[in-house]
Amino acid sequence: MVLTKQKTIQIGLLGAGVVGSGIIKSLLNHPLIKIKKIGVKGLNKKRDWGDSVGNSRDCSLQTTTNLTEIVTDPEIQIIVEALGGLNPARDLVTLAIKNKKHIVTANKDLIATYGPELFDLARENNVQIQFEASVCGGIPIINTLKQTLNANKFSKIMGIMNGTTNYILTEMLSKNLNFNDCLNEAQKLGYAEPDPTSDVSGKDAAYKIAILSSIAFHERIKINEVYTEGIEKITLLDILTAEELGYRLKLIALSKKEDDGKIDVRVHPAFIKQTNPLASVLGVNNGVLVEGDLVGELTLIGRGAGQSPTTSSVIGDLNLLAAQLSYSREPHPQFVCHHTEYAKIKPMKDTVNCYFLRLKTEDKPGVVGQIGTIFGSHDVSINAFTQRGINHDDTASITMLTHKVKEEKIQNAITELKKANSIKQVENLIRVLE
Ligand code: HSE
Repeated sequence: MVLTKQKTIQIGLLGAGVVGSGIIKSLLNHPLIKIKKIGVKGLNKKRDWGDSVGNSRDCSLQTTTNLTEIVTDPEIQIIVEALGGLNPARDLVTLAIKNKKHIVTANKDLIATYGPELFDLARENNVQIQFEASVCGGIPIINTLKQTLNANKFSKIMGIMNGTTNYILTEMLSKNLNFNDCLNEAQKLGYAEPDPTSDVSGKDAAYKIAILSSIAFHERIKINEVYTEGIEKITLLDILTAEELGYRLKLIALSKKEDDGKIDVRVHPAFIKQTNPLASVLGVNNGVLVEGDLVGELTLIGRGAGQSPTTSSVIGDLNLLAAQLSYSREPHPQFVCHHTEYAKIKPMKDTVNCYFLRLKTEDKPGVVGQIGTIFGSHDVSINAFTQRGINHDDTASITMLTHKVKEEKIQNAITELKKANSIKQVENLIRVLE
């Protein structure tokens, strides 16, 4: 970036972990932005940040454990929050905004949970919060929605927003492995956290789709209203059956603005068509597909986590702010959150989907008829039905695809199926997104 004859901008960095270290390395030789202070947990750790071209050096940057001192320093204009988690990030960012600092953060938990109060406070204090790195790491989706695509009315955002689960699903398919083996391998390789709950349960992706929905649809989303289901119950058989039927199984984060004004926002495993661009998002990559009235369908694919991709987004935000601060103290209107209304969320029971079902049944005359009768009585229309042979325990494995139907109706049908003597188990229900 060429930024000449400008005054140096001093920033404070909170956190010097994986993300923080990446930011430090990239800023060591920045022509305009200087890190004045770095907030760390302890001062004893030897730090050797080096620079982005590999020159190693002991860090002479000023580190402190007094993070309050950083966010209240009158010479610091921008605070980069790279602590992660809700606390103390929330209190420190709040204090920083009250002290008229602009904020750059990579913290999705913070933005998805406390975004409304922080954006309101930022508006009151005439400062800006930039958070490109909080959703899908290196994929430039937030500023793209806010700025480059702002002429569009968006109808849908659909994405693969978690690298850990996408890695697991990709490995299960390519190596014929089960879920636990792939999770263990992902942990060994450092792709999955030692406690992978947030990723595997879909929560991480829920934070991200909540943030993107609120930007695209100009309404705030309460994170606990996002229906969330993870990949814990997914089996290799589900994945292989999806392939056989022309689909691919992915953990999908979806948000749609419906005609009734409600937002249908959710995260769950889904069969998507193999021709969908998201079907070719492999391994730890993320992908986001947006649908706008002018641009049509657009997909961005890339690294959703990791030091370098996250640093790419953070420094991009910093450069944007620095360029802006060179001519005005006023926040750029396209980057200020003006919406204050909360979205009306479509309850999951009212959403409409096609479904894939896997059943274990008795193998005797009348079972298929019984399934058909139960489905018929709940307005569930069957699109495809296959008996996939007999198991060791003499039960039959049946897989089915339905036509589009309201979630409430299929759930009622399943409740009734579970009561039928001939149905031994409803093994899985996976939504099919057409
Ligand atoms: N743990 C996330 C992932 C990255 O696996 O994609 C941070 O949100």
